Amino acid sequence: MKFFLDSAKLDEIDFAYDTFGIDGVTTNPRHVQVSGKPFKVALRDISAWLKDHALTSYAQFPVSVEINPHLADTADMVREGRIYSALNPCFVIKLPATEQGIAASRQLERDGIRTNVTLVFSPSQALAPAKNGALFVSPFVGWKEEAGDDTAQFVGDILKIYRNYDFKTQVIVAALRNAKQIVDAARMGAHIVTCGLAVYQGGFEHPYTRKGLQIFQNAWDKTAPE
Ligand code: E4P
Repeated sequence: MKFFLDSAKLDEIDFAYDTFGIDGVTTNPRHVQVSGKPFKVALRDISAWLKDHALTSYAQFPVSVEINPHLADTADMVREGRIYSALNPCFVIKLPATEQGIAASRQLERDGIRTNVTLVFSPSQALAPAKNGALFVSPFVGWKEEAGDDTAQFVGDILKIYRNYDFKTQVIVAALRNAKQIVDAARMGAHIVTCGLAVYQGGFEHPYTRKGLQIFQNAWDKTAPE
């Protein structure tokens, strides 16, 4: 399973790449807002970072870039997707799981521009993008769980449908809020998870590890004095 970082903050991307080897990045307008940069500046800076790290293709290190969420027309979505895609070969165009967004994904994929259909909240929203060759779909597990909805069935159904028909679209289990959700996604065989840096870091922590380290430190101090 791949780990994507859900962030547009360059320091977080850099840290996560260097320390635990993330496999890609997902962004959305909210992440760009949190980065404190205007959208185009954020994209330019991420592009420069990719170049510095010799990351030159979406197959090597995909970075999902979301189109203007106000666009409601397929042709406008396609036009904007083409513009962002031309900025960097790692960029994958993120489109909403609406009728227009799914149609735009189909058109862009036919032109060789890879897409990520986002804001997926039902298996039926994940079916058409896969039939039409989207690279990724992003079911939002965290948002659904916050609303009290079941997500095991939701993600499990998408994965089962994809296996039934040998769809190549990869499932990014998205908006995760804790390490258990990462483990649940892995148990189900999801291709990818995406979440913020703090969620990954939370998964590396355990109180028993801290307690065990303390025990070993105490023993070390008694057997290996300076
Ligand atoms: C996924 O691609 C989205 O960017 C993301 O997971 C949205 O969730 P969040 O910003 O609420 O974490």
